[in-house]
Amino acid sequence: MRILSGVQPSGKLHIGNYFGAIRQFVAQQREPINECYYFIADLHAMTTIHEGAVLRDYSRMVATDFLALGLDPARSVLYRQSDVPEVTELAWMLSTVTPMGLLQRGHSYKDKTSKGIVATHGLFAYPVLMAADILIVRSDRVPVGRDQKQHLEMTRDIAGAFNQTYGEGLLRIPEAMILAETAVVPGIDGQKMSKSYGNTLEIFAPEGELKKRVMSIVTDSTPVAEPKPTKGNTLYALLKLFTPPAEWPATKRLFTEGGTGYGDLKKRLLGLVLETFGPARRRREELLSDPGHVERVLADGRERAMKVIDHVMTDCRRACGLR
Ligand code: ADP
Ligand code: TRP
Repeated sequence: MRILSGVQPSGKLHIGNYFGAIRQFVAQQREPINECYYFIADLHAMTTIHEGAVLRDYSRMVATDFLALGLDPARSVLYRQSDVPEVTELAWMLSTVTPMGLLQRGHSYKDKTSKGIVATHGLFAYPVLMAADILIVRSDRVPVGRDQKQHLEMTRDIAGAFNQTYGEGLLRIPEAMILAETAVVPGIDGQKMSKSYGNTLEIFAPEGELKKRVMSIVTDSTPVAEPKPTKGNTLYALLKLFTPPAEWPATKRLFTEGGTGYGDLKKRLLGLVLETFGPARRRREELLSDPGHVERVLADGRERAMKVIDHVMTDCRRACGLR
């Protein structure tokens, strides 16, 4: 089973990225039948970041964070999207069979432009480049959060159109892998946690900052003694993500029985976040002291990815009449 996914280096990784995506990346690489490809989607991040120095730093930082969180270069291929320019070539080929109407129905484009991101061609064509990422390694499964569901549907449609035009079986039709329980991790304000909403808990934020963020999670005004609502309660949802299943019934009772204040529940959450990511935080410090290591991992990843990509591109170019 070939697994592929990417994350844009458009900011610092947060726990939504972890539970919605990265945790699955790490779990998938442990399955012996899987062949995993993960990449830093720097070309996609160019739709929102226009400062070279910033993008370069974020790309390296996200690669470092992936390794710290358990992505193992011995089990997975980790590469930087822009190191594989073939992906833009395939994106062009795909764009010639992608109906305008398909892209016009894209939620992500509408959401982003409504939030003030400039409506460029790159932003509009974003799903085509994403389809190229996925199709260029003939992926079977794509682990992502629920917000990427439509992009996966578009990828399937685009691959179908390409195959219909140039030959059945040329591109493999992939499937999304979306975990129901972590499909949408709420941010500290209760909306979907997202870099662009400023409501994140960053995985590698300094302890003091993390504490401040956890303490500012929005809660209602239920008095300490009374039972707390669980539905639509951000603190409850976040605690559920971090609490080991065996301890969950006891933690749940702190909400349903009353007697525990939100302040104490927040402290509990902070402790769990620090404990969960403690080993990753220590690994990250080590990785930061050897930046050459991350670059070597990415160079090696590019080489391994190209072994598959060369074949796919040869087939596609031939089918289109480019060679
Ligand atoms: P952001 O919204 O912060 O910019 P990205 O769009 O870069 O995050 O998402 C990277 C990956 O993390 C994607 O697979 C996405 O589905 C997942 N993801 C992001 N935010 C969340 C969230 N709040 N809950 C679950 N998964 C998420
Ligand atoms: N669009 C994805 C996101 O914002 C990132 C991404 C780019 C991606 N190319 C991909 C994810 C290919 C999975 C597969 O999160």
